[in-house]
Amino acid sequence: MDTIVSKRGATGRVRPPAVEALLAEIAGLDEAAVQQRMMPAGCYTEPEFFAFEKTEVFARTWICVGRVEQVADTGDCLATEVAGEPVLVVRGEDGAIRALSAICQHRGEIIPCPEKGKALRCPLHFWTYDFEGRLAGAPRMGGADAVQALRRTVRLPQLRVELWHGFIFVNLDPQARPLGPSLAKLEPLWAGYEATGLKALPPAMSDTPLPWNWKVQVENFTDAYHPEYVHIGTHDFAPSVMDGDGVRFTEMKPGDNAIVRSVPMRTPDGGMMKEGWGPDAAFPAIATLPPEQRRRITFAMLPPSLTMMFAPGTVAYTLIRPTAVTATFAGSDRVTYGGWLLPQSTLDLPDFLDRCKAVSEGGSKIWAQDVPVNRGMQAAKSSRFLPEGIYGPLETTLQQFNVWLLEAYRRAIG
Ligand code: FES
Ligand SMILES: [Fe+2]
Repeated sequence: MDTIVSKRGATGRVRPPAVEALLAEIAGLDEAAVQQRMMPAGCYTEPEFFAFEKTEVFARTWICVGRVEQVADTGDCLATEVAGEPVLVVRGEDGAIRALSAICQHRGEIIPCPEKGKALRCPLHFWTYDFEGRLAGAPRMGGADAVQALRRTVRLPQLRVELWHGFIFVNLDPQARPLGPSLAKLEPLWAGYEATGLKALPPAMSDTPLPWNWKVQVENFTDAYHPEYVHIGTHDFAPSVMDGDGVRFTEMKPGDNAIVRSVPMRTPDGGMMKEGWGPDAAFPAIATLPPEQRRRITFAMLPPSLTMMFAPGTVAYTLIRPTAVTATFAGSDRVTYGGWLLPQSTLDLPDFLDRCKAVSEGGSKIWAQDVPVNRGMQAAKSSRFLPEGIYGPLETTLQQFNVWLLEAYRRAIG
């Protein structure tokens, strides 16, 4: 008789043995241990572990799906995906932004965003729903009474939404703790930007996935150690090590959902230019920012779906969409165009498009340097010689990310 080694996760699904083995290894680690070593390689290579992350980690985490500007008016709709679930983010008659499951409650077809001004309509049998998810019409389902009865009970599941400085976050877990407090450490950064007011240029999502695990992507983003070596010529202006100054990390408290570092610039008001980070920023510095923020760039990672850069001229952001264990979509100037919050005065500059081009070019140069090392990091996860890892003083954010992962995996293990 087969031995049953699989256990059930929080979702009630049976976990495959490969996932159980990894979770057993992780269960043997504590906060101190994960600051001394990397997570097991299988967390980066096992398709079944990715499936576990999707259904039991991402589904209990706040996922950024875009910006309020993308659903600016009543009737606007953004079709997206949260932890593998098709989701519609809509703005209703009452002006509220809601997130609805896109799964039709008749027999489960996926509902797309409608044309502007139209109701949500399932393409299979034309059942319609209003923007609060209530069934509006169900043709040929019997008489008026039958449809009336359906209207009383059928509704697209509504998901939790939280808005944070214009970013829309969705959580599939009705019990999840609110997002805002978990991002408290970023709050002081916003005042100087919001005093001027920012408008969003949403990013275009890449159309081909990056061939590495989502954790490789965010680790590369947050690593303060590598710029000096990988980004020679493009990042020297914003170094992690500088006479009398250098990278600063923030404390990581339980429940924090932001992993943050800041680095100084060699001169104030710098930013992204054609050659990478430099003194003549393509997006001019924002006058209402405090001097400290005009001298430093802050990099914030909000796992698993968002990375942000707070620079003197812009807040730049990348949306991250993992779709398989080594398939991660991304959208921003590092991969595609956009992902910038900018003041109107910058948008109004006569040569604005040239400036965007310069920022994209600089971002692409940095990105081109990251691609081969990310490929290498992913490939090495399958090596028999992969070390457990050693962390140095410039790798605090990597250790903090491991603590975040440990917390998230433990929550999923239950
Ligand atoms: S499945 Fe949607 S109307 Fe039938
Ligand atoms: Fe990099």
